[in-house]
Amino acid sequence: MTKSSSVFECRHCGCASAKWLGRCPDCGSWNSFVEERRSSSSMVTLINRGEVKVTRLAEVSTEATPRLPTGNPEFDRVLGGGIVHGSLTLLGGEPGAGKSTLLLQIAHNLQARGQRVLYISGEESAQQIRLRADRLEKPLAAGPADSTGDILILAESNFEAIVSSIEEHEPSVVVVDSVQTTFSETLDSAPGSVGQVRHCAGRFLNLAKSRNIPVFLIGHVTKDGSIAGPKALEHIVDAVLYFEGERHQNHRIIRAVKNRFGAANEVGIFEMTSRGLIPVRNPSSIFLLDRETITPGSAVVCAVEGTRPLLVEVQALVVATQYGTARRVATGIDYNRISVLVAILEKRLGVQMNGCDIYVNAAGGMDIDEPGSDLGIFTAIFSSMRNRSLPSYTVLLGELSLSGEIRPVSQAHLRLREAAAMGFRKCILPAGNLPLVDPVENIEMIPVKSVDQISEVLFP
Ligand SMILES: Nc1ncnc2c1ncn2[C@@H]1O[C@H](COP(=O)(O)OP(=O)(O)O)[C@@H](O)[C@H]1O
Ligand SMILES: [Mg+2]
Ligand SMILES: [Zn+2]
Repeated sequence: MTKSSSVFECRHCGCASAKWLGRCPDCGSWNSFVEERRSSSSMVTLINRGEVKVTRLAEVSTEATPRLPTGNPEFDRVLGGGIVHGSLTLLGGEPGAGKSTLLLQIAHNLQARGQRVLYISGEESAQQIRLRADRLEKPLAAGPADSTGDILILAESNFEAIVSSIEEHEPSVVVVDSVQTTFSETLDSAPGSVGQVRHCAGRFLNLAKSRNIPVFLIGHVTKDGSIAGPKALEHIVDAVLYFEGERHQNHRIIRAVKNRFGAANEVGIFEMTSRGLIPVRNPSSIFLLDRETITPGSAVVCAVEGTRPLLVEVQALVVATQYGTARRVATGIDYNRISVLVAILEKRLGVQMNGCDIYVNAAGGMDIDEPGSDLGIFTAIFSSMRNRSLPSYTVLLGELSLSGEIRPVSQAHLRLREAAAMGFRKCILPAGNLPLVDPVENIEMIPVKSVDQISEVLFP
């Protein structure tokens, strides 16, 4: 029986409601609700209706699924060590971030490793893809005279046509650029609507699992939200990767926001060049500015993103407020975290910040939201306030409690080793982290217990 009903859904996050809402209660977007017609017969069935079978846990095969390396160390890292067979991965980012470029490069790499890649584009013609492919860096082991011809290109956005093409050509890897342009005839909703995008993603999941081939979906993130955002798909797919930070820099950061097969929050760092996205060999180096001349307000933290320690410079600028209320501006760091740190600074160190504008940012467009960077951010603000520079080659670790106590950080050893490897000579760290399990050489450790000690340790 087919019963038609209507629901309203947020275009950004897919939150559903029986009536129209002006503001989404989930993601806070305004005017994002649109009507979606749903008929129960066309609802997405995510699992193949076949034989229903229950298995004993002990009988499930534990053979580790071999991963397919992409030949790109940074992309492999974000995926948790290569592509998992039968996985559905969503790569989201703003237009121009480099989604098509990166996946075309990955397609080349996989092709060179003997995979059969089908690149489906509903956005660009085969010719446009060819033009892009011609300027990209090619893997060394590429096929005969022209490897670009070996990737199968399908300029199509009709889901049913895509499926029959997959059945005909039997690719071992599929890339869909983009999921928002793909639509299914079985649904009344317009292409790009939450209903369509979710329906197609669900059917791609089905396809990936039933044929055991990895599928990559490209998803656009747009500011105005005129099309359904990748957020509405996060629960369907196995892994969600997002381009992070600003587009105006020449490096790009990709973060695994969710990964059923690897560490969440893992980041991959690439440089955007005319030959495509090139993996960065020494990522810590791009988040550190000139280490010799240190200005007041600058401090270096070591954040663990996923499984990798990264040194990032935090810069703070504290100036007297000129007009009206004091401004607090944060880039790459949570605004509320700054407010808490400023409150601790006022209360514990007796510093008046009332008439001050405070600007804080993380260098290189990195988002640092890990509590282990609290002490570094706190010290950067304090250093700008006092107009005194920190000693050079010093890194700060520590989480702050509201009472100003410096709490131990996780994986202190990993962070210290990265700092020492990058030539840092001093580390201010929580006393609770000592003694370390293994010693780290060539770096002096200065343990601290509370923010009251910061002044005497750093600005004697
Ligand atoms: N000739 C070029 N040299 C350097 N960078 C380029 C060149 N052509 C395109 N780009 C970069 O590639 C980006 C477009 O990448 P693309 O993969 O099409 O993005 P997306 O698919 O995420 O919208 C542009 O932002 C631009 O920075
Ligand atoms: Mg594109
Ligand atoms: Zn929403």
